[in-house]
Formats: sequence, structure tokens, C-alpha cells
Amino acid sequence: MRIDIITVLPELLKSPFEASILKRAIDKGLVEIHLHNLRDYVTDNYKQVDDYQYGGGAGMVMMIEPIDKCISKLKSERNYDEIIYMTPDGETLKQRMANHLSLNENMIILCGHYKGVDQRVRDHFITKEVSIGDYVLSGGELGAAILCDTIIRLIPGVLGDEASALTDSFQDDLLAPPIYTRPAEYKGWKVPEILLSGNTPKIEAWRDEEAYQHTKERRPDLLE
Ligand code: ADE
Repeated sequence: MRIDIITVLPELLKSPFEASILKRAIDKGLVEIHLHNLRDYVTDNYKQVDDYQYGGGAGMVMMIEPIDKCISKLKSERNYDEIIYMTPDGETLKQRMANHLSLNENMIILCGHYKGVDQRVRDHFITKEVSIGDYVLSGGELGAAILCDTIIRLIPGVLGDEASALTDSFQDDLLAPPIYTRPAEYKGWKVPEILLSGNTPKIEAWRDEEAYQHTKERRPDLLE
């Protein structure tokens, strides 16, 4: 998979890909992340990427030309499955969306800033608009990092234990059951007996029931 991220703040997007699972995925050659500084596509001397909005109103708008130049250059080099714009009014990121996007080969992610981008960018270049939740970030970068994380960890070979992505919370619309590791007793707090029994079918049944109860308590909306 190849992900091209277009941003005015590339430095904000470096560290998420320099540690842990995402770094390992890159080192293994399973994913390539390319950061593109939008200012490199500006022709004027001030390196201006934004301007006042027509009709007046507070807040600057990202201009179409540098975005067009960057996206068009990338599109001339390869085909893209999706050109995503990070925006609070996009479709909310859910596990199901991450699952679908993890099957793609090439994607562009455009990070919005200021008030957002000129509507014509959205109308003519963008194929999918994604929000990471009902709150406003100061820019799309952190949202893009989260989106990339959710996608990349699903690529086969990225997680050491192939089964573990399948047992995550949300993967079957249930929250994950409680988990424990050694010691079996700590300060008098005991691990549930059933988990020490070695009886796999009973353990699975216990986990299913715990996941269901946990979901019912915390996220009844997921059961509807
Ligand atoms: N940019 C600003 N807020 C955002 C959000 N909630 N999701 C994605 N991009 C954003």
C-alpha cells in the first residue's frame, strides 16, 4: 500500500510513522508513506496556500491551485483508489471503513487547515471525505495519522499475531472482553478462575458473554 499525504505541516506527521507498529510496517515494505508539503506547489514568493473567503467572513480558505498541482502530479504517476479529504463534516471513521480502506493499493489523504479548502477541490478531486469524530481539530493532520494507523494495522503481515486484529473491539460490533496476564493473584485481586481452567470452549463462551455485557453497559448503541 502507498499513502500520499498532502499537508501544510509535514513535521506534524513524521513521528507517528517513526515508532512501533507503523514503523515496522514501513520497514517491512508493507506500506509507503509519502508526505507532500503543499507549499512546494505554490508559485508565488510568499508561499501562500490560503486566502480570504469570497463573500466575507472569518477564517482563511486553502486555495485550489497548489492542491490541484500536487494531486495532478501524483495522479499522473499512478492510479489512486481514493483521494480522501480530512474534514469534520466527512463520514465518521468506523472500523468498517478502516477494513474497506485497508484493501486499497494507493491513496491520497489531503489535510485541511484554517477554515478548510475551496469547495471546488472537494467537488472535482476528492472521492471520500472522512471525519475522525464530532469535534474540531486545528487541522486534518492528526486525523490523517489516526486514519492511517487504523488502516495500516489491518494490512496482512503488519501485526505479529495475525489473529489479533480480528479480536479487537468493534471488529464484530462488540467491545473486547477483559484481559489478564500474570500474576494470577496480585494484592489479593484474582484473575477470573475460568481463564485458568484450560477449558477453551468455556473460556470462549465466557469471553463472548463478557464482551456482550461490556457492550450493553458502555455502548448499547452498538447492539441496536
Ligand atoms: N479536521 C478538523 N476536524 C477534523 C475531524 N474531526 N476529523 C477529520 N479532520 C478534521
